[in-house]
Amino acid sequence: MKASYFVIVLLLFSDVTLTSGFIDVVVGVTAYIYTLFKGDNLLPFDPARFEKDLNENLYGQHIVSKVVLKAVSSFMTDSNPNKPLVLSFHGTTGVGKNHVAKIIARNIYEKGDQSSHYITFISEHHFPHKDMVDMYSAQLKQWISGNVSSFPQSMFVFDEMDKMNPRLVETIKAFLDYTARVDGVSFRKAIFIFLSNAGGNVIANLALDFWREGKEREEIQMNSKGMETQIFQNIFNDKSSGFWHSSIIDHHLVDHFIPFLPLELKHVRQCVLAEMASLSITVDHDLAESVVREMPFFPPEVTIFSVKGCKSVRQKLLLYIG
Ligand SMILES: Nc1ncnc2c1ncn2[C@@H]1O[C@H](COP(=O)(O)OP(=O)(O)OP(=O)(O)O)[C@@H](O)[C@H]1O
Ligand SMILES: [Mg+2]
Repeated sequence: MKASYFVIVLLLFSDVTLTSGFIDVVVGVTAYIYTLFKGDNLLPFDPARFEKDLNENLYGQHIVSKVVLKAVSSFMTDSNPNKPLVLSFHGTTGVGKNHVAKIIARNIYEKGDQSSHYITFISEHHFPHKDMVDMYSAQLKQWISGNVSSFPQSMFVFDEMDKMNPRLVETIKAFLDYTARVDGVSFRKAIFIFLSNAGGNVIANLALDFWREGKEREEIQMNSKGMETQIFQNIFNDKSSGFWHSSIIDHHLVDHFIPFLPLELKHVRQCVLAEMASLSITVDHDLAESVVREMPFFPPEVTIFSVKGCKSVRQKLLLYIG
């Protein structure tokens, strides 16, 4: 936006006659140069803009919208938080966990998820070897401290948290406490988000129960049938999980365990339409329907929820238009 203003000002002060194709190129190049030199700071936080972004771009996740909006807004508008914000996202595949982390980032940083303050770690990618855990732990500590000391509002996303080596979970734990001050650096303004499929089946079964009982999806609440406790127990007792008996859970350092519900057909349809818009394809409802029908749904008898959420919707769409 600002880049195009810049181009308009340039054009006003020049007497060159330009074709629209040339203008497109100039706008593109200027936008690129602008992002290169643009600062990498915080955006002034606007809860109303954040709410609008969630309402418009996150489908079928009323619990997530509500809890994330409240938690992030009160944290970002608190000038002196007493601990870092720690959220743990749970749900089956493709239901929007990374998507929401990016929505948060674009409401916090000028450069959104491209900001150098938005840092993602993927367990099996960044920490693949069991025998190198000591080195990973030292690096992780240094990396988190270094970033927070130069920019206190840094955001760390740990993807595949359930596959994280418990020793590394312990390393992260040191930063999450109320007393979080490591080597003289305070972590109270940082945000930590854990993503995992742990508890996904518990959530999916609960959504299915509601559906079978003829209840509206929107009636499902955080405490329905003790969901938050169920997720908590499920990940706490799963021996294969990095969370297992981890002191992160023991010490109640996570502010919210947030359940992502499995997506229904109508949500997948919304994802297809959003992908069409992002690919600048004219909206075609028949085409959207064909893409949706290619996705697998469960349980087999009633096919209500998408097995892969909105994952691979873009790839399926590209096959049709390619
Ligand atoms: N609830 C949703 N609302 C809008 N778009 C969604 C939603 N869920 C998924 N998507 C779309 O599908 C893509 C894949 O979702 P995402 O990567 O967030 O899934 P995930 O929950 O992190 O899955 P995984 O557990 O496999 O990592 C997103 O980039 C987004 O475009
Ligand atoms: Mg993900």
